[in-house]
Amino acid sequence: MLDNNFPSWRQDLKSSRKKEGKSPSSRWVQLATVSEKNEPRLRTVVFRGWHKDTSMIIFTDKRSDKIGHLKSNPNAEILWFFLKSKSQYRFKGKIHELSYNENYWDSLSEKSKSSWYWESPGEKINPKVESAYEILSNLPKPENFVVLNFEIDSVDLLKLEKPIHKRYLWEKIKKWEKIEINP
Ligand SMILES: Cc1cc2nc3c(=O)[nH]c(=O)nc-3n(C[C@H](O)[C@H](O)[C@H](O)COP(=O)(O)O)c2cc1C
Repeated sequence: MLDNNFPSWRQDLKSSRKKEGKSPSSRWVQLATVSEKNEPRLRTVVFRGWHKDTSMIIFTDKRSDKIGHLKSNPNAEILWFFLKSKSQYRFKGKIHELSYNENYWDSLSEKSKSSWYWESPGEKINPKVESAYEILSNLPKPENFVVLNFEIDSVDLLKLEKPIHKRYLWEKIKKWEKIEINP
């Protein structure tokens, strides 16, 4: 059955992703948050799939700075650029932590899981800690493993086309509405 709430930007994104191919870098997105000092902060994260039709999953470490930012301000933006289709998507929304995350932990490789057991990200390296970056096996889900749910409420798509670039804006008012805007 056709779902009227399923936004048409999902279809555009699907075709951009298909053109891009399956390289790991095609899932790297830029996540912007606002710091406690009201300053913009930006970093690359991996898109881990959809939670609902319009919310993205991101894994992170509870000890990282972005967690403090999101506690004081859940507003965030994700930028996803596709070289092959020359398309820039800017997703605006809010991020909250998902409380049930067991199955996400199980989906990770041992190498990825190990990084949550390493020393705190962003802190000065402690030379006294031996074998700090070991790959361990059979690791249970640690308390600092966090799954973020990014709920999207607007999408700005710029497509570099010839002769004129195209730009569209989708906003979720009650249902998703799309307008074409100047590039
Ligand atoms: C290709 C790439 C993928 C990354 N993926 C993630 C990710 O999925 N989650 C994450 O928390 N950090 C990821 N990082 C590290 C972040 O960019 C960042 O350095 C780290 O999360 C600390 O950010 P913060 O101090 O702003 O919280 C990735 C970095 C790169 C270069």
